[in-house]
Amino acid sequence: MKYSEIIPVLMFDYETMNREQIIAVCQDLPHKMLRWLGAHHPDNETRKIFFEMTNVDIGEGTVINLNFVVSDGYRPLLKIGKRVAVSPNVTVICESSPNNSRLQEEVYVRSRLIVANSVVIEDDVWIGSNVVILPGVTLGQGAIIGSGAVVTRSVTPWTIAVGIPARVIRRISRKG
Ligand SMILES: CC(C)(COP(=O)(O)OP(=O)(O)OC[C@H]1O[C@@H](n2cnc3c(N)ncnc32)[C@H](O)[C@@H]1OP(=O)(O)O)[C@@H](O)C(=O)NCCC(=O)NCCS
Repeated sequence: MKYSEIIPVLMFDYETMNREQIIAVCQDLPHKMLRWLGAHHPDNETRKIFFEMTNVDIGEGTVINLNFVVSDGYRPLLKIGKRVAVSPNVTVICESSPNNSRLQEEVYVRSRLIVANSVVIEDDVWIGSNVVILPGVTLGQGAIIGSGAVVTRSVTPWTIAVGIPARVIRRISRKG
């Protein structure tokens, strides 16, 4: 199938296709196109497939909303657990660099700011809309991240963290 035929099939016929068929149709697409589909495809379940095809580990029952952006160089740096809720416009940065900027030559930038580090989002986390998560962060099980937060440090399980930088404001009591 030509590239120009694949996109209409994926966009309009996905409801008649199972996971294996979707993967078979688009397995030769470049990673950057798969990620675009992951961010913009209208269907929740289908979006997940494109991220999984480009090395994002996503658990069962997790929902990835629109405009999910992952900076990881398509390397396996992001692990998302089960039943996680990712709201619209969330960005996860695992790899960070100023691209072609001459900042690359600065010692401080090279030694501290250009990084590639894993991000782990444990089971049952709820990430609000417009959240940014920085390299090296772990969101513990059942953490809630308030909309608009920038998460610079790991967040402990079953807590609510908000703001820039994100800080824990509340613990959630768990029954049982
Ligand atoms: C964080 C959140 C869950 C509320 O939790 P809560 O325990 O009810 O918190 P409260 O409303 O009692 O607010 C506690 C404090 O945090 C502040 N706060 C709440 N949400 C905040 C946010 N997203 N960013 C910054 N501060 C926030 C409040 O202003 C309040 O501050 P104050 O004590 O100085 O007045 C909610 O505000 C939120 O962001 N939900 C996510 C919404 C979303 O994106 N949904 C996804 C749609 S699919």
